[in-house]
Amino acid sequence: PNLQMFVDKLPIPATIDISTGAQLTLGIYKITQKLHRDLPNTTLYAYGTSQATASSPGPTLRAKRGIISHVRWENHISDPFHFLPVDSSIHWANPKSGGVPIVTHLHGAEVESASDGHPDTWFTEKGETGPKFVTQNYTYANSQPPTMLWYHDHVVGITRLNVYAGLAGVYFINSPSEDAYNLPSGDFEIPLVIQDKQFYANGSLNFPNVGDSPLIHPIWCPEFFGDTILVNGKIWPYLNVQPRLYRFRILNAANARFFTLSFNNSKLSFDQIGTDGGFLYKPIVLSTLTVAPAFRVDVLVDFSSLAPGTDVLLTNSAPAPFPSGSPALSPNGTHVVMKFHVISADSYTPGASSSIPSTFPPYAAINLTNVTVTRNLTLQEFDDSNGNPIVSLLGNLTWVDPVTETPLVGSTEIWQIINLTPDAHPIHVHLIQFHVLNQQSFDETGFLNGSCNLSKNFPKPGSCFTEKPRGPTVDQIGWKDTAITWPGNVTRFLIKFTPQDGSSFPFDVTAGPGFVWHCHILDHEDNDMMRPYVLH
Ligand code: C2O
Ligand code: CU
Repeated sequence: PNLQMFVDKLPIPATIDISTGAQLTLGIYKITQKLHRDLPNTTLYAYGTSQATASSPGPTLRAKRGIISHVRWENHISDPFHFLPVDSSIHWANPKSGGVPIVTHLHGAEVESASDGHPDTWFTEKGETGPKFVTQNYTYANSQPPTMLWYHDHVVGITRLNVYAGLAGVYFINSPSEDAYNLPSGDFEIPLVIQDKQFYANGSLNFPNVGDSPLIHPIWCPEFFGDTILVNGKIWPYLNVQPRLYRFRILNAANARFFTLSFNNSKLSFDQIGTDGGFLYKPIVLSTLTVAPAFRVDVLVDFSSLAPGTDVLLTNSAPAPFPSGSPALSPNGTHVVMKFHVISADSYTPGASSSIPSTFPPYAAINLTNVTVTRNLTLQEFDDSNGNPIVSLLGNLTWVDPVTETPLVGSTEIWQIINLTPDAHPIHVHLIQFHVLNQQSFDETGFLNGSCNLSKNFPKPGSCFTEKPRGPTVDQIGWKDTAITWPGNVTRFLIKFTPQDGSSFPFDVTAGPGFVWHCHILDHEDNDMMRPYVLH
């Protein structure tokens, strides 16, 4: 369908305070939702406290640092089958009694394993459970510094379908320590959940049901890219803004699309103040912002220099796939995200002044001299005889292979992600926040045929590296739980297996079904670019 842009107002999902100590019950429901003025209602799966209030994105949950919250997750989808095409040739939950399995992961959280939404802890409406199921009653410690997390489905083999169907929402951890910064709040602090989708004229979601590799994966699409951009569940919406400072909490909740955001007005820029794991040490002024799948970016945008009546577009220039790009996968509509319309200063709300802080408290950086283990972890994709991708692997292993990453609680490790594919992959590690130490290009052919060595650094003879290590790119500074690993590069994650503040976990982190690390291109994650890890 040919849909007009900027005809719908940006919705703001309802907020639920979960800092009261009471248990919140959130169910997954099948709903229909109006995604655009001229599009018939779309069937979705959505989170909500009831069928009537369920929405996509789900309600925004607000927790307080240091106050444990309790969420009971329920499955109210009684359909015998998923409404999107399930590729049963890839390893998936596959409940014997049918139905739609679900399990919810709180992305970026310091959380006990039983409440982490491990992919094998799914459950159906009929009560069938995955092999590692523990409980539907989750406990979130909320022990980490203030930031924006997000919750989304994580069932083995169909995460891409459940998230695409609507199962994602925003989760804030707040702390009184933030108040000192006098940042925009209330109506001026707005989550922007960005996704791409594709529709039929009748409003239903279009997800490919024919795979590139028909004999091996009749349905699996190696990377889903839609032709329509949604923010907070509306297609190309607009937002009326006052001529003042705003705080936008951006989340890329797309299956595979990266976004490189900018404004089509040179008077505006992004003052980035935070990343996945919370505040940066100091703001970074950026004219473009690359947001990979699962990244959160905390930015301030000052509209005060714009005259009332001005329209500004938030645009996207990221190639798809990233970073090589195939123009057919980025049709014109994907270059536009939403519109800001500056309204008259008359409606300015007095008493709501705020400013851009010059610094935030320095964080306890991870100490390199404490590194005890360095792991070499390869990213690979394998093609069928027609050159179509059939599987993506981490460390040359599949999801069901035995655990190989078993860090010691409290230890510091370097994970060298060796990307042997032509694409960038956003790699996510559960439980902790880490730093991107550096990245370094290397000779892939030499590495694969053994004629050079990654343990010898540049410029030693026999080293596979072709340059000195480069520091993290501007989008990878600070605390990250998901980071871009570039093709032809080794990207080093510096990880300390403790809470972010360096203390001890307030729960037994060695108990339960364990944790996972994976590519956050959901189509890759579902087809084996995901591995278990356990702490000991
Ligand atoms: Cu956002 Cu393991 O996922
Ligand atoms: Cu990937």
